Amino acid sequence: MTSWITICDTCKREDWDAATQTRSHGEDLAALIERAAEGRTDIRTRRVSCLMGCGHGCNVAIQGAGKLAYTLGNFLPDAEAAVAIVDYAALHAESATGQVPYKQWPQGVKGHFVTRHPPLPTDSET
Ligand code: FES
Repeated sequence: MTSWITICDTCKREDWDAATQTRSHGEDLAALIERAAEGRTDIRTRRVSCLMGCGHGCNVAIQGAGKLAYTLGNFLPDAEAAVAIVDYAALHAESATGQVPYKQWPQGVKGHFVTRHPPLPTDSET
């Protein structure tokens, strides 16, 4: 099943400098994630402006229908973070519940989890 990586493209980390940078850190990370996920059929990406985690950017959310969803933050906008996020999303896509055993987590996502959201109940559960 497909998992989505929702990327905040307006995140600016503390060292962002309007005098020298024309793109936000979120835009940089989004471009790197999109490149890392290119050609994959199990992962889709989208950009949004603000996930309300502005104090600890860069932020992404990992979501899939009927699965646990996660937000992760405090990423540097670099290729290493992008690959770790995509690798984690692939494991999320493989998982029936969205839960990925800790021992399988890519090193680059460890310490970056911010929230976990249980899936909404189905109509038959309400
Ligand atoms: S600007 Fe990225 S979470 Fe608000």
